[in-house]
Amino acid sequence: QTGMFTYDPGFTSTASCESALTYIDGDEGVLLHRGYPIGQLAEHSSFMEVSYLLLNGELPSADELSKFETTITRHTMLHEQLATFYRGFRRDAHPMAIMCGVVGALSAFYHDSTDISDPTHRTISSHRLIAKMPTIAAMAYKYSVGQPFLYPDNSLSYTGNFLRMTFGVPAEPYVVNPVVEKALDRIFILHADHEQNASTSTVRLAGSSGANPFACIAAGIACLWGPAHGGANEAALNMLHEIGTPDKIPHYIERAKDKNDPFRLMGFGHRVYKNYDPRATVMQKTVREVFEALKVTDPVFEVALRLEEMALNDDYFIEKKLFPNVDFYSGVILSAIGFPTTMFTALFALARTVGWVAQWNEMISDPGQKIGRPRQLYTGPTQRDYVPLDKR
Ligand code: SDX
Repeated sequence: QTGMFTYDPGFTSTASCESALTYIDGDEGVLLHRGYPIGQLAEHSSFMEVSYLLLNGELPSADELSKFETTITRHTMLHEQLATFYRGFRRDAHPMAIMCGVVGALSAFYHDSTDISDPTHRTISSHRLIAKMPTIAAMAYKYSVGQPFLYPDNSLSYTGNFLRMTFGVPAEPYVVNPVVEKALDRIFILHADHEQNASTSTVRLAGSSGANPFACIAAGIACLWGPAHGGANEAALNMLHEIGTPDKIPHYIERAKDKNDPFRLMGFGHRVYKNYDPRATVMQKTVREVFEALKVTDPVFEVALRLEEMALNDDYFIEKKLFPNVDFYSGVILSAIGFPTTMFTALFALARTVGWVAQWNEMISDPGQKIGRPRQLYTGPTQRDYVPLDKR
């Protein structure tokens, strides 16, 4: 017994690691970060506060939070050489291609000065990555639209700074909309960490070899890009636009059930949740707030609500325990805020960086940590002798 949870010894036989960061109960739809329910954190906390919690294990005092935010703020600038690095990409490069490249390139600037056995170096690397991701993501967007990069403005909040670097222009002042800032900050909280998902497992496996944290996070970004994982938010909104109107929904639901049709309802289903993803609940509430505040009338939200209602009342989805996940509504909000669909997964990577670095730190700090080495079930031919070319 560990508090309210029964520790199932049988489970450890398939567990890839032990971690104290995030707990998920897929059957009950429970998600806790260091014991705190995601719904309470999304309602009352900030992304910087949740970042501190994930990294340090406790919610910060006001003074601790202020010091943490100041430290992160001081790392938001990128080396000027990296701005040049962007120029090597085509203007229409997918932002995730840029994120993989630029974050990996951070290794070239910090690898030689980062000794991962030194806790102070690990902390500085973590702060650098959390701080620079908004700058890198904003620059990827600016590069794609041919606008000049904006430097960070350290008088703004973490999320406000990101909004200004993304949507601001040098020609005029940018005023952060507090409703948008709060909604985006909440979306970052909902994406911060999620136990041993595919991209986090990628970061852990890469990190287990002793690779520098910048290269490990670049590996996590690459894995997150897939449509079955973080790429689902972009695919989900594209799907909602393809459906277009509620009367077309039954056709798409039938396609999703047809085993001969590769079409899947993007934003539905989950490897772990066999109940409603608690993040999707918060996300749906946030859509309403943003739509009301920005007077958005995009019918795509109505299509999403109708699709969810019809799928949740369909025997196939009920039997397969398929519910909306974090990616189902996020694209609707991000689109209403003004992000192009190609930026959605880059925002997921921005937010998930704190989970990746917290999980990486947890693993590297364990003195008993060994290099990961998954095994396989061999299905190839049994041993046989070589056949010379003229005998084949
Ligand atoms: C994320 O791991 C994490 O924690 C990830 C994540 C995080 O925060 O890091 O939560 C973020 O990646 C969320 C998931 C985003 N992906 C999508 O929304 C893509 C659409 N979803 C599917 O591709 C699918 O649900 C997966 C990939 C998410 C899970 O696939 P599984 O493991 O096959 O799901 P399952 O075992 O529960 O499937 C049960 C059945 C299967 O059919 P049968 O083989 O039993 O006949 O349901 C089917 C699946 O084919 N199914 C779907 C479906 N998802 C599963 N059928 C139609 N539409 C879907 N979306």
